[in-house]
Amino acid sequence: MSLNTSKIRADFPIFHRKINHNPLIYFDNAATTQKPKQVIESIKNFYEKHNANVHRAVYTLSQEATELYENAREQIAKFINSKNTAEVIFTRGTTEAINLIAYSWGLRNLTQDDEILISEMEHHSNIVPWKIISKINGFAIKYARINDDGTLNYEDFTNKVSNKTKIVSISQVSNVNGIINDIKKIGKIAHENNSLVLVDGAQSVPHMKVDVKELDIDFLAFSGHKMLGPTGIGALYCKKEHFENMGPFQGGGEMIKEVNFDRKTQHSKIIWNLPPWKFEAGTPNISGSIGFMEAVKYLDRIGMDNVRTHEKKLTEYTFDCLKECKKITINGPQDTSLKSGIIAFNIQGLSSHDVALFADNFGIMIRSGYHCAQPLHQVFDLRSSARISFYIYNTFEEIDRFVEVLKEIEQF
Ligand SMILES: Cc1ncc(COP(=O)(O)O)c(C=O)c1O
Repeated sequence: MSLNTSKIRADFPIFHRKINHNPLIYFDNAATTQKPKQVIESIKNFYEKHNANVHRAVYTLSQEATELYENAREQIAKFINSKNTAEVIFTRGTTEAINLIAYSWGLRNLTQDDEILISEMEHHSNIVPWKIISKINGFAIKYARINDDGTLNYEDFTNKVSNKTKIVSISQVSNVNGIINDIKKIGKIAHENNSLVLVDGAQSVPHMKVDVKELDIDFLAFSGHKMLGPTGIGALYCKKEHFENMGPFQGGGEMIKEVNFDRKTQHSKIIWNLPPWKFEAGTPNISGSIGFMEAVKYLDRIGMDNVRTHEKKLTEYTFDCLKECKKITINGPQDTSLKSGIIAFNIQGLSSHDVALFADNFGIMIRSGYHCAQPLHQVFDLRSSARISFYIYNTFEEIDRFVEVLKEIEQF
């Protein structure tokens, strides 16, 4: 089904804006998406009508806030088809979700004889947390290679998994060239070697149906702000059976059941709270979780298959139009069955920042730099790239305008 972009756009107040006297064209959805009024209103409504802390008090407002917060968890669990709501831990986003696993599970379970496997296409947030923990525990980090066209080299991946591999931590979709990895295949190889599988879903969960049961994965990390929700909220799906092997992530209120203090000995004995709260220290982002719930409801109404189809059509159309731009090199394959709605490119003789600044003059927001994926750029001997990334409100007309501007840039 085609998306009714005019109807969708009417929900996004930001599209009333002009930038440099031009209508706003927002093509940096891989970084963060715009927010519909339903999400904005839900946050406002919470602060105007229900604001109180959660899980602590018996009074009405606190009960309401707790119910909303836990409803949000349930809604997000359903969205990824987790059958057990406790398997969804709220985090600040994908980065914190991966850190949570690295610290809570990694610190406890990885030793100097172990290996973990990531890939050359990872975002820094799926490299750096593991580097930090490996400095403490001494395990080795292996990188599965990518092919010349940017796709994962499954042969190299398979060769690097062994009974030493304790976890495969890999993105489902690259945030640079939009390559979609075959998580079922990766998971099968990993599990056959008794390795766990963590999927960085930052660029997949917002754009396609991601079903944790069907994929049979152990952990899934994703961010609310990349899927219409507010910043500062995200989630970690964690298969329930792994909870017993995970220590606490951060310490504080919420994550404990009891702190029993013996004044004589000056010792306190702590009993952890049950998961998921054991991993949610301190006052959580309550309004953020409510906005996130509203975002997920919005996407459910559209249907994730329709989201994917729309972005696929936009991407195909863009590739077609870009044939007219002779100085452009596209990073990665142009087969849209292999990739999401993210296109990274370079223009001969121009830095990616020049391209982005030029586009900004025409109200077009695109990303430039190495998109927190420096290793991938180094594999291709690139210092940076320009990147456009689509979402449900983007239109074919916007692409036409963008290509017109690109042609001007080429001449410039
Ligand atoms: C593939 C991937 N992983 C992780 C992240 C980090 O997400 P966040 O900054 O929301 O924690 C991003 C952000 O762009 C990403 O694209």
